[in-house]
Amino acid sequence: MTYNIGVIKGDGIGPEIVTEAVKVLDAIGAKFGHQFNYTQILMGGCSIDATGEPLTDEAIAAAKASDAVLMGSIGGNTSTSPWYKLPADKRPEAGLLKLRKSLNLFANLRPAYLYEELKEACPLRDDIIGEGFDMMIMRELTGGLYFGERSTKEENGQLVARDSLTYSETEIRRIAKRGFDIAMKRRKKVTSVDKANVLDSSRLWRKIVEEVAADYPEVTYEHMLVDNCAMQLVKDPGQFDVILTENMFGDILSDEASMVTGSIGMLSSASLNDTKFGLYEPSGGSAPDIAGKGIANPIATILSAAMMLRYSFDLDAEADAIEAAVKQVLKDGYRTIDIMPRDGSSVTRVGTVEMGDLIVERL
Ligand code: IPM
Ligand code: MG
Repeated sequence: MTYNIGVIKGDGIGPEIVTEAVKVLDAIGAKFGHQFNYTQILMGGCSIDATGEPLTDEAIAAAKASDAVLMGSIGGNTSTSPWYKLPADKRPEAGLLKLRKSLNLFANLRPAYLYEELKEACPLRDDIIGEGFDMMIMRELTGGLYFGERSTKEENGQLVARDSLTYSETEIRRIAKRGFDIAMKRRKKVTSVDKANVLDSSRLWRKIVEEVAADYPEVTYEHMLVDNCAMQLVKDPGQFDVILTENMFGDILSDEASMVTGSIGMLSSASLNDTKFGLYEPSGGSAPDIAGKGIANPIATILSAAMMLRYSFDLDAEADAIEAAVKQVLKDGYRTIDIMPRDGSSVTRVGTVEMGDLIVERL
């Protein structure tokens, strides 16, 4: 089969980590007899530099014309990069938000899983890690605070900034259904996270999630307040299966969950709509401080490519092969700097390209 993949390398470490993921995809193509065609798409700071816009209409059209999009990361140092002197809607992140909205990518899946081999890189104590953990954060991605009306105006002689948080029943219901569907394929537990003790949008969230839950009698579900969830993630991460939550809470909790796994460099993600199309990207950012040094961990991007094979192309065996190769590389003792154990004597430190090569060798 032939698949057309849009590729957004982006900024910072983006080009380095995407190059490794493409290398892995090509090796999979050769092994399983698939042809992957790539279309390069500009987004983020590199698009601003080339076109003045973080995401052009042509870029959106190219993404729409692809079967799926694989992305690295966008953005730069928010204190020093000239991109952050631009108006908010011209900055790198605006491109990503616009792409998510244009493609209706409302469901963001962020798996956080502790590899046995990376226990040493996990900042939590052994008794907290226990048997390990394996959770899926389902983040609503096209509503809420990040897409509400916003303004900064002078009122009574001082600046006043406003952001609005809106959710409709439809938006909540469709993400909740996705969350429960995924739970059915996992350990059948959903923790819906909100701030229903304060926010109206959270109270509606809770009501709709309860309605959806009634259609899934096999799934155990609970509600948890977001501040408590932030605490529970470091106190007892093993309790979670699917965490279902709104946009901003999911943004914050998924970074926390990734760090609990040992490194944000390990966390893949998929952003899906109602079709087979998806945008696949590592959950981590562009890490401008280490860009170009050849030390970034490409694993999250490689695992995102595996998610693309699984969710958009239904190539389960191929996705399994990538995931197994990643596991094997860790078992064989290779580590990028971000996942080095505290006592690094027993492992071999490798760079971005070498990690990609080692994974390809094990496919
Ligand atoms: C993420 C990122 C983005 C988000 C930024 C870059 C807009 O933090 O994917 O988690 O907040 O959604
Ligand atoms: Mg984030």
